[in-house]
Formats: sequence, structure tokens, C-alpha cells
Amino acid sequence: MRVAGAFRETFGAEPQGVWHAPGRVNLIGEHTDYNDGFVLPFAVPWGVTAAVAPREDGVVRLRSLQAGGPLTVAAPGEAEGWARYAVGVFWALREAGHPVGGADLVVDGDVPQGAGLSSSAALEVVVATALNELYGLGLTPMEVALTGQRAENDFVGMPCGIMDQAASALGERGKALFLDCRSLASRSIPFDLSRHGLQLLIINTGVHHELADGQYARRRRDCENAAKRLGVDALRDVTDLAGALGRLSGDERRRTQHVVTENHRVEAVVGLLRAGAVQEIGALLNASHLSLRDQFEVSCPELDVAVEASVRGGARGARMTGGGFGGSAVALVADDRVEAVREAVVRAYAERGWAAPEIYPAGPAPGARRLA
Ligand code: GLA
Repeated sequence: MRVAGAFRETFGAEPQGVWHAPGRVNLIGEHTDYNDGFVLPFAVPWGVTAAVAPREDGVVRLRSLQAGGPLTVAAPGEAEGWARYAVGVFWALREAGHPVGGADLVVDGDVPQGAGLSSSAALEVVVATALNELYGLGLTPMEVALTGQRAENDFVGMPCGIMDQAASALGERGKALFLDCRSLASRSIPFDLSRHGLQLLIINTGVHHELADGQYARRRRDCENAAKRLGVDALRDVTDLAGALGRLSGDERRRTQHVVTENHRVEAVVGLLRAGAVQEIGALLNASHLSLRDQFEVSCPELDVAVEASVRGGARGARMTGGGFGGSAVALVADDRVEAVREAVVRAYAERGWAAPEIYPAGPAPGARRLA
């Protein structure tokens, strides 16, 4: 394994183990996780692999085969850039009172660049999974996910929800993860596309609009303000949507409309999948995209064009996936329409003078695990 070889070369010793944690794609349930709502992501076949050995002196030495290094970090506050996602996990575990020392780590990632498929959650979860085992912490996969989220929220400073880390830690081959982000109860939902002659294409726009970072926190604030005005703990609790919309205006009204309807769409998709009616989820994917574009306002031209061209090319449905403002769209496509959809998207991009997006099929892969 290349990461173990790089570990030997970097640190002149054997790693104690090699772990892998995947990125994720979200089938539906966008911007619902931090509203205590429902999500339906799955783990993708790409992620972060880490060769790790513990150290007793508390020091963390890190090398990334993509970003360089090795870096030596004696105290968490010294970490910068990508290293914060890894070092933040040591910090989060220590904050929670776990007896975690240092470690030497080499990490190797293959999540496509700019795809918005949660390479940062994969890095957090692979480090947390390795430390859980090396230091005998006895954390459940959900506790591993929560550790990654804590690192990202309070160490890196990105106020994300639990979806990405949960998908990475709990994913299963052939299954999507139906997660209640309030109770953290989860259920595996069979998502077997090939049996239905279908593929889920990931269309990687390759763009990341810089405003994304501040906008995420603003959306979250809009939702919290709306919940407060409505007197509920979270938008998840809104049952009378028409009544709620009558009491809100502007951004808060639009955000509420999206979150409440999106939760219903997740439940509807889960129902259809459990009934074996995979083809039927397309309309809900389309509705989710329109809601994210018009009510939640987190799409962008590259995502809209990818979605519209996919549908025109014959996709059953398509939507942006992840936080928005770039990253990827997903399209549910029958096997015999895949080429037509590809061509439609590439042509639509060319007409606008945009570079062709990368397009690849993905199905649910296993979650975090030890490889060696
Ligand atoms: C990002 C966050 C997730 C989630 C999505 C939107 O990926 O990390 O927690 O909020 O955006 O659904």
C-alpha cells in the first residue's frame, strides 16, 4: 500500500495500522442536518487513507501525499491549512477527556478535487477512527463522527452539521444512510441501482465560489432566527407550514419553506426506495434542486446548467448535492441514457465557454474501516 511505503520513508518505522474513511454524496436532504432534520447520504468509493503510529510525547507529525509535509505540530494551535482537520481531532478527543497522546501520520486522498464530496470529513473520520483503535477509546462509529464534527465546528471554525462525518463513519456498501439528525438514529436503506438499470452520475463542476464559506453560516443563522420567531427548537418541528410561512417574511420565510419541504422529500424518497421504486425518486430530486435554487439560494449557474442539461438529456432527476455554490450535482439516469446525458451536459458547458465537468457514476461504498 502506497501510504504505508510513504510512512516508512518519512518516519523510518512501520505504521501500526492503515485506515480508510470515505467522502460522501448526498442523495437528498440538503441543509436539513443543522435543522435537526433528515438526510440520506451515502459513502463514495473515494476518501482518505492514513498510515498511523501512536507517539507518547503528545506531538503530531503529519505528511499528506497531496499537500506535502512532514509537519511537526507540538500543540494544536500550531496547525495550519489542511492539517487543522487532522489536528482538530486530537484536540476534540482531548477536550472530551480521552487520554490521547500524539501520532505520526501519512495521509493519502483520492476524493476528486473541488467536487464537494467531503474530503475534509473523510480526513477527520479517518484520524478519529485510527486514534479510537490505537488508544482503545471504545467510541461507536457515531461518536467517531461527532468527534469529527466537533473538530470542524470548534477547531477549524466551520459550523457544519453531522451529515458528512456520519456518512463517512457509518456508510455501508449498497446502502444509503437515512439519518435523523436530532435523535441520531439511523437506518440503512438499500440503494441498488444496477438492479434497476440505473446509474447515479456525479457531475463535478470543479468550481468553488468563494462566497460559500460565509454564506453557509448565514443560512444557518437564518434558519435559527426563523425557528426562534416561530417558537420551535428547530425548523424540524414546524408541522403547519402554511401557518409558519404566514408569520415569516423575506429570507427566513424562504429558508423555512425549503427546510420543511426538504424533510418531507427525504421521507418520501426513503419510502419509495423501501418499496423498490427507485425510478420514481427522480421527481423529488428535481424538486429538491428547485427549492435549493429558489428558496434556499445556494445553487450557482454551473450547478443549474448541469441539472437542467441532465434532465434535458433524459435523466430521471437531478439536483445539486452538498453545501452548494459549486461542487457537484447528481443525476439519476437509466443505463441507456447515460451517454445522452453526458453529451447534453458537456455541450451545455461548451456553449457557455466553460470547461467540461468531470462526470462519473458512484454507488454506496463501505464506511470507515481498518485496511491493514
Ligand atoms: C455541508 C455540511 C453538511 C450539510 C451540507 C448541506 O456539506 O458540511 O453538514 O449541512 O453542507 O446539506
